[in-house]
Amino acid sequence: MEQEIDKLKKEVLDFNPKDNNELLLFRQKFLGKKGVLNKLFSDFKSLSVEEKRKIGSPLNELKGLINNVFNADNQPKTQKTSNDSIDLTLPGLNTNMGSTHPISFVRNKIIKMFREAGFSLSKGPEIEDDWHNFSALNIPESHPARDMQDTFFISLNPDMMLRTHTSSVQVRYMENNPPPIRIISPGRVFRNEDVSARSHCLFHQIEGLCVDQDISFADLKLIIQYFVNNLFGKEKKIRFRPSFFPFTEPSAEVDIFWGLETETDYRITKGTGWLEIMGCGMVDPAVLKNVNINPEKYSGFAFGMGIERIAMLLYQIDDIRLFYENDIRFLSQFRSLTN
Ligand code: DAH
Repeated sequence: MEQEIDKLKKEVLDFNPKDNNELLLFRQKFLGKKGVLNKLFSDFKSLSVEEKRKIGSPLNELKGLINNVFNADNQPKTQKTSNDSIDLTLPGLNTNMGSTHPISFVRNKIIKMFREAGFSLSKGPEIEDDWHNFSALNIPESHPARDMQDTFFISLNPDMMLRTHTSSVQVRYMENNPPPIRIISPGRVFRNEDVSARSHCLFHQIEGLCVDQDISFADLKLIIQYFVNNLFGKEKKIRFRPSFFPFTEPSAEVDIFWGLETETDYRITKGTGWLEIMGCGMVDPAVLKNVNINPEKYSGFAFGMGIERIAMLLYQIDDIRLFYENDIRFLSQFRSLTN
């Protein structure tokens, strides 16, 4: 066996492959399943202790020499190419690229357009206290929004909850920053609602707030019109429909004219052609007082919208649950969106 190993060592040392084929044959002969090395190692097992001592080190040397043949720039290519050159006409390797989630895409797009209009980004915590989520926003103890059905309370501390809207960030920002204020705050919100095609217990909102001297409803209308034109196109008509929110006075809901051209338009607009996209209004003086801003000197407007709702309108998605299921068949339809 010793002689055999010596002979093989010499063969390995003298080996000088001329082409890929020789390299492949060499690898098969020495390292293949039924190759030389495997055979020697299995023979080695049946040797006596004394013989093992003698043969062990030359055998390992041989193994080392064989492995040395396959250094970094001597890897055999298993895919046969004509005369060993690179075939540039072969199709490239298919890398599976991810894409931006439609919610992130719409959120980023909205942030970008408000940034361009002079708003900066502000974020708040998802776990909120009663003051920031309700009280400071003029939502009294008895308001239905406080109902246990809507809010996920933290069981250990009834003063804490998962925020039900991003309006809480308005309070946090105004507490810490004097006017002039122009902020936009995107984030996740939570409501204890049954999950269905139309509503979910987790969704995303974007809040806007502007506080300064002489801010009027006309400023609010201007910025909302700017937003709608940017996102839905120049021709979209909007209307402000009187509404009620405890933290704004007067309050309104914004509808866009979606049209009644198709069966679906008819269904989603309930036959009116109009679709609600956000709530808004002039910041209630009581809210300004709560954060120590003088309502005699300053006024402001606020607005809030659900990102899922906007994305569903933009891309004609009829089930909100699709956003959270991570189904590749759904997500891959948004490959072309980049921002
Ligand atoms: N926070 C409200 C909601 O979750 C949305 C909203 C309405 C926000 C009017 C506002 C606003 O800032 O002025 O339903």
